[in-house]
Amino acid sequence: MGSVKSEAKSQPEIRTALPGPKAKALIDRDKSVVSPSYTRGYPLVIERGAGAMVEDVDGNVFLDCAAGIAVNSTGHSHPAVVRAITEQAQKFLHMSGTDFYYEPQVRLAEELAAVVPIAGGVRSFFGNSGTEAIEACIKLSRHTTGRQNIIAFLGGFHGRSMGSLALTASKAIQRRGFGPLLPGVYHAPYPDPYRCPLGSTPDTCADACVDYIEHQLFTHLVSPDEVAAIVVEPIQGEGGYVVPPDAFLQRLRALTTKHGILLVADEVQSGMGRSGRMFAMEFSGVEPDMIAVAKGIASGLPLGVAVARAGLMAWPPGSHASTFGGNPVSCAAALATIALLREGLVENAADVGAYLMAGLKALAVTHPIIGDVRGRGLMIGVELVRDRLTKERAAEERDAVVSSCFARGLLLLGAGKNAVRFSPPLVVTREQADTAIEIFDQALTEVERSRR
Ligand SMILES: Cc1ncc(COP(=O)(O)O)c(C=O)c1O
Repeated sequence: MGSVKSEAKSQPEIRTALPGPKAKALIDRDKSVVSPSYTRGYPLVIERGAGAMVEDVDGNVFLDCAAGIAVNSTGHSHPAVVRAITEQAQKFLHMSGTDFYYEPQVRLAEELAAVVPIAGGVRSFFGNSGTEAIEACIKLSRHTTGRQNIIAFLGGFHGRSMGSLALTASKAIQRRGFGPLLPGVYHAPYPDPYRCPLGSTPDTCADACVDYIEHQLFTHLVSPDEVAAIVVEPIQGEGGYVVPPDAFLQRLRALTTKHGILLVADEVQSGMGRSGRMFAMEFSGVEPDMIAVAKGIASGLPLGVAVARAGLMAWPPGSHASTFGGNPVSCAAALATIALLREGLVENAADVGAYLMAGLKALAVTHPIIGDVRGRGLMIGVELVRDRLTKERAAEERDAVVSSCFARGLLLLGAGKNAVRFSPPLVVTREQADTAIEIFDQALTEVERSRR
């Protein structure tokens, strides 16, 4: 694809059997030397990318609706981001913001203060990943409240280091064999309007889940005055792209305020424009006390940030730090990314997201395997079921659909047990959305036929 060729390609083109010979050779090498814990759903070996398109090592071209797990917000190798990275790399690569000062880190903290939905001033702590942003939120919550316990939600994903893993309650395999985890963590049900875990209707599910915290957890297990924080994804990501009713976050805010508990929004996946607003919390009008940001913030360079109300981030020098956190090259990439988001990509996420969502909803008319289509902006989940009445989860079928899309030149990822996620770069066009819908349609047809 290269810089010249890549601009010519805005549609998929499959030229070899998949994986092609070069891809197969690399996968064989990977097998003997790379950790087998990674979850590779299909054999994509990327050579290069541009915008929403990816070319593999055998010259096959794919439309990318996975974006490296919702990371490549500005598309692959956006020229403005590459320029910012190159210019910074030519000046210096590292000086540790823990011990010294540099402008990109300060400017990024100023930019974040301007875009996060927290009024009255914030401070930022810089790490390298989503899990580190969550660790910082856990530590700061405990430090600033003097309380130990944390509440998180079933189905939630917050990372895999030992503290954030204790909050993660997505798939049992992610926790299996690693205990004991951080003590003092309690889980509550998350209001999935399509299948309320407490058996309530979509209208009452949010209340039922918050009531569970108030009347079950606070009554039987943990006193609210010993809870430091409630950590919540405003849209559950790995759990299946589940959008809770706005009332959920509003009631959580009221509950946390009443008991002096901090509300921590994990916007690692939903943040940085993906939802069609800069942060998904904005839809509910709820201000959290802290926000964890990572993934899309630096278009692919490693960066994680815990942003907190300024008054809360008052821990003394030495209490928390990271050698690489807030790396200047990552900060430069983030500054270029935020500029692009503000200049139109958030708007594009809202516009193309609504278009893609409408197209996917229309597919439900002809594909009974589609149980639910939900999401916000370019964070869309399609839940597949074997029967619309029983809502039996079509997990194997989901995997087959994702594989069939790959074979046709569309990169997707699963989310939860039986949902497909659409999380393309925010530069994706309506024409590319049409292509994604068309390929998804063909894959659904193929899988539905094979299961009859
Ligand atoms: C909502 C959420 N929080 C935290 C994380 C952890 O991020 P990382 O993999 O960068 O540690 C993820 C990763 O998928 C996530 O989706």
